[in-house]
Amino acid sequence: MKFTLTNTVDSALPPDDDHPYRTGVWRSQVNEYDAWDMDVIGEIPGDLNGVYLRNTETALFEPIKRYHPFDGDALMHSISFEAGEARYSNRFVRTDGFLAEQEAKQSLWAGITEHPSNALAESGSGARTMMKDNASTDVIVHRGEALASFYQCGELYALDPRTLESRGKTQWGGTFPTDGVSAHPTLDEHTGELMFFNYSTDAPYMHYGVVSPDGDLVTYVDVPLPGPRLPHDMAITENWSILNDLPLFWDPQALAEGYYSNRFHTDMPSRFALIPRHGSTEDIRWFEADPTFVLHWANAYEEGDEVVLDGYFQHNPTGRGAPRAEGPNKGFETLDMNVLEARAHRWRFNLATGTTSEESLTDRCSEFPMVNGRHVGRPYRYAYEAQCANGLFAFNGLIKRDLETGSEEVVAFDDGVFVSETVMAPRTGSTAEDDGYLVTFTTDMVNDWSECVILDAANPAAEPVARIRLPERIASGTHSTWAPLEDL
Ligand SMILES: [Fe+2]
Repeated sequence: MKFTLTNTVDSALPPDDDHPYRTGVWRSQVNEYDAWDMDVIGEIPGDLNGVYLRNTETALFEPIKRYHPFDGDALMHSISFEAGEARYSNRFVRTDGFLAEQEAKQSLWAGITEHPSNALAESGSGARTMMKDNASTDVIVHRGEALASFYQCGELYALDPRTLESRGKTQWGGTFPTDGVSAHPTLDEHTGELMFFNYSTDAPYMHYGVVSPDGDLVTYVDVPLPGPRLPHDMAITENWSILNDLPLFWDPQALAEGYYSNRFHTDMPSRFALIPRHGSTEDIRWFEADPTFVLHWANAYEEGDEVVLDGYFQHNPTGRGAPRAEGPNKGFETLDMNVLEARAHRWRFNLATGTTSEESLTDRCSEFPMVNGRHVGRPYRYAYEAQCANGLFAFNGLIKRDLETGSEEVVAFDDGVFVSETVMAPRTGSTAEDDGYLVTFTTDMVNDWSECVILDAANPAAEPVARIRLPERIASGTHSTWAPLEDL
């Protein structure tokens, strides 16, 4: 393997750290590398051309009071493929918050489980206000740039998708929404448009927008909600965008007193806003469904009079009845998707009748889905989901869900081997929805290394097509994306 250690960032965590999201599979990484000619078992396919990017929440300093994994800085991993060659880089996203804390050599902002008034900084970001915009939640490629985003709404930090060189904060025609942008902006690969939303504690509480393939903000409208909500993800079809108002949100009374405590309202419906892609506030069609919370949607598409939406219905969104952890894991029980009982679920919104029908698709827990990018917003058959480890926010396998037959193909990894949100990368010249590769990064706690593993998407349980060694074991993280070479 050929690599260069390009930089080591400043960090100060206790040597006897026992925090479950700063040690083990979540051990913080401080080194930034470029690597090429890496050791490969198998062969990198010549028809795998593009880039796989994955974001990682990374703790660098002791928190002011309490660290939650979603507070970590963004460490981006990029592996790009072209003509059978692979190149890897990892870099911290140079957010304003990262740079300020590197300078101060300490945490300056309060995390999601701390009160905002604990912040030492004088200003902050996010729907919850006074947070560090860490850009560590999600990543997507639009107009040839990787955009790192923050689940509480913030800037979109742009990076070269391959070298991860910083390209600063995104602007669209010289502007950017004052309420920021949430994680999960969604790309229509067929048109090059990027759809997004944001949310805040001020009316109208949500906005929706569209960025053109030329990078202009061509649509930006109010999505009025009854109060502050906690939407996390959105979905699109060819003609509609789907936003949500789900009945798990900050308790209004506590919020009025300046505290942020989630409450699930079992007596309130889930509400879905269907807005024409370039529609106005008046065009929104609202649909109601059973109460739940949904972290992620798999996909949506149109079928006759209906808009079909697939996502992961939480049957126990507050983790009620789950054993409470003691020690370092205390309070982190609901990071386990098994506790939340997340299950693949389908909603159908009938535009002719205004009614909703819905059904659970499985008894198996899964989350963090990816689909073939060419099928986002279009009819599709396969979702590639993460199998969630027990007792920890980490993935120990993947599931290929066939929405047509209902079958689930589980790809298990060895004990102690964790995987990332796994992308589906269509083969160059791909002729079918699953004609391509599944690409993921592993965190191998047995061998103390990480690999990029490439599987055949049509037969993922077969021996890997290739396993590529990375310079250092990387930590678990959240979201990833695939962008084909022609989009870079
Ligand atoms: Fe997410």
